[in-house]
Amino acid sequence: MLAIMSQWLTLSRAAHLLGISRVALQKRIREGELPSFDGMVAADDLQRTWPELDLNESGSFEKTRAIREDAFAKRLRERVLPTQETLAQRLFVQGQELAELQRTLTRYHTLFEALEVRLAAEPAPAGGELLRLLDEGLAQALAAPAPGNDMAALDAMLRVMSAHVTVKPSGREFFVEGSETLLKAALRAGLAPNYGCGNGNCGLCKARVVSGEARTVAPSDYRFSEAEKAQNHVLMCSCTALSSDLVLEVLEAGAPEDIPEQRIVAKVRRIDALTADVIRVHLQTPRSNRLRFLAGQRVTLGIRAGVRDGSDVHGEFPVASCPCDDRNLIFHISRGDHRAASTDFSRRVFEDRIKVADDVSVWGPWGRFVLEKASARPLVFIALDDGFAPINSLIEHAIAVDAAESITLYWASEQAGGQYLPNQCRAWAAALDEFSYRPLAVDELAAALAADSALPLSDVYLAGAAEVVEPLAAALLAAGVPPAQLHVEGL
Ligand code: FES
Repeated sequence: MLAIMSQWLTLSRAAHLLGISRVALQKRIREGELPSFDGMVAADDLQRTWPELDLNESGSFEKTRAIREDAFAKRLRERVLPTQETLAQRLFVQGQELAELQRTLTRYHTLFEALEVRLAAEPAPAGGELLRLLDEGLAQALAAPAPGNDMAALDAMLRVMSAHVTVKPSGREFFVEGSETLLKAALRAGLAPNYGCGNGNCGLCKARVVSGEARTVAPSDYRFSEAEKAQNHVLMCSCTALSSDLVLEVLEAGAPEDIPEQRIVAKVRRIDALTADVIRVHLQTPRSNRLRFLAGQRVTLGIRAGVRDGSDVHGEFPVASCPCDDRNLIFHISRGDHRAASTDFSRRVFEDRIKVADDVSVWGPWGRFVLEKASARPLVFIALDDGFAPINSLIEHAIAVDAAESITLYWASEQAGGQYLPNQCRAWAAALDEFSYRPLAVDELAAALAADSALPLSDVYLAGAAEVVEPLAAALLAAGVPPAQLHVEGL
């Protein structure tokens, strides 16, 4: 019997195709349910492991629709092109034809290799045996595809809609959906590329195209030198990927000191009370002046003298949102903030003296409470009351990076039900196989942590009021968490 070769996919492309995390895929491989070779998996094995995959429910068609909304001008859509649904269906049918062609070619290739081996063998094969091998091989090459075997076709379709980018020298990967910019896609995937204006002016987001092709999708005033042009430099904030596989050389921030200090004037976009004691403030930066920061960092917020009551007020707060959305900055402000330096700003928020559309200056970022880049250890996050703000940013970032084996969140509160975003935490736990959420009272926390035998093998991130986190950090060290794996943010 001839072994038939299948189409091979990288783990990130396979995870993308299935709409699951790479960690979930790696778990199946570790448990022996999914064979892999040299970091690749076969399309046929994916289909066998996920036989229930329903293309209509996989979200791909939904994604197709959304991407096409962005990708085509309205006039073209209405007058020249078929409807988006028709295009998506045609693309899928073509993907099926292409996949079938690839399968058949692969089978012929396998057949010829087998015949070559047999012909070179001693003793030389009899004519009857050769005929039998040929018949058997041709029957397999021309066999109808297995019903429902659409994995390769779906992959072909996704290759058109989302390009795969590999970043050098870090080896990180991300996908560019539709015609979004390389910068936007890289930030969404949790990368920290060098950039400034986000608008095609400063040139800080320069990257070198090592292989593949990029195309300009947004105007830019930046002028490349002749040498840069010859070396295939592009602006990540103005270009998208044209080829389905692109390799870029990118300058990435490796540590907080790689991020420059910035001063930005943002506008209050929304203010909403999460509980009687916590207010969420949403600031939006100008389009051409966004805040570059690492998940988990803090900034200083300030209101200039003359705004509302004439006094100048500052406060330092952790950014609760993810750097992947660098224009929209979220802060969780507590009543009677325990940080002396933040009390006045917090009081203004609670006294309703900061309004939507007010200017707020943002200065920073500060702090080293950031994810350990090179680690794939399980992540344990411990938030005490509003220490959840930087933890929220770290978790969103960790989910985007998709490198940790598992994520556990302990959120302890002084007050019953003080976990002010419970639905969001439950949604993470429901959506991600390897995410567990444990809301607790503060006095239950020490016992829960003592019972967690995985802590010494994990990267532990602890945030909350300084006077509470300090003894807890000492207890974690005493319980065997290596100092290099314990990250503490006393607010
Ligand atoms: S970030 Fe300034 S040109 Fe791209």
